[in-house]
Amino acid sequence: MLFALLPLWLAAAFLAFSARPVVIAHRGASGTNPEHTFASYDRAMAMGADYIEQDLQMTSDSVLVVLHDPTLNRTARGDAADCTGRVIDHTLAQLRRCSAGQWFNERQPTLATPAFADARIPTLEELFQRYGARANYYIETKNPEDAPGMERRLLGLVRQYRLMPGEAPRGQVVVQSFSQRSLRLVHELASTLPLVQLLSEPIPRSALDSAFTEIARYADGVGPDRKLVDSAFVASAHAHCLAIHPYTVDDESDMRRLLALGVDGLFTNFADRLRALAPGAPAPMTPRCTR
Ligand code: G3P
Ligand code: CA
Repeated sequence: MLFALLPLWLAAAFLAFSARPVVIAHRGASGTNPEHTFASYDRAMAMGADYIEQDLQMTSDSVLVVLHDPTLNRTARGDAADCTGRVIDHTLAQLRRCSAGQWFNERQPTLATPAFADARIPTLEELFQRYGARANYYIETKNPEDAPGMERRLLGLVRQYRLMPGEAPRGQVVVQSFSQRSLRLVHELASTLPLVQLLSEPIPRSALDSAFTEIARYADGVGPDRKLVDSAFVASAHAHCLAIHPYTVDDESDMRRLLALGVDGLFTNFADRLRALAPGAPAPMTPRCTR
């Protein structure tokens, strides 16, 4: 109603001023639910997360599944032949026999529910079927060097479910990776898809400019370990029009520090905490300026 009364330029200025950092639900609402399960993603959506995050692994029969570790040992429970060892050595049929939430019940008895024990490892396609364009997806190609073809399969599903940029108002897909090779390949195959280069190692201040010059050739943002972010990092990344989405930030004082530095979004296991600190409309996941 208010917007209808404002001149267009004023409404745009208001939106730009009020845009808040994007809330990326790391493995879903994984502070209170078993990571990468429907329960975790349902909860994250209910908390108002802007993006739900997926880590991708591939099965021996080339199905993309959503699981953080390259092995099943930490988060799968069931028959050892089906539910331990490397994901890439197991078929989807084997993974379907494993619980994806029993480990959480064992680890977090106060949050445990019988429903968690019944949770299964989702495929990426099942996630797209469940949430469609109601959700925005922030998808990591995990250990892509061990799963040749991962990027092509990912793009095939994004196209099949009509989630390419511009196909729906929501349903945005961002692809993230620690692997520069993987992101360059995605950029080559789908140049309009927003990409984020994950960073785990410190970059010396004197090397920030050249590092971000290189990343800006194929990516729209960086996802640094939260400990790497200071004012010099923020200034340099923004000078290259790169959005900054540090991971994984659960502590409120860390959230406040990073928001004050001017980051554009945060990965968190507690999307509700971040939403409470940063009200308003989310900033768009597009370059912050024209290169
Ligand atoms: O993708 C951002 C962050 O999730 C990277 O760390 O190990 O949780 O995938 P990890
Ligand atoms: Ca991740």
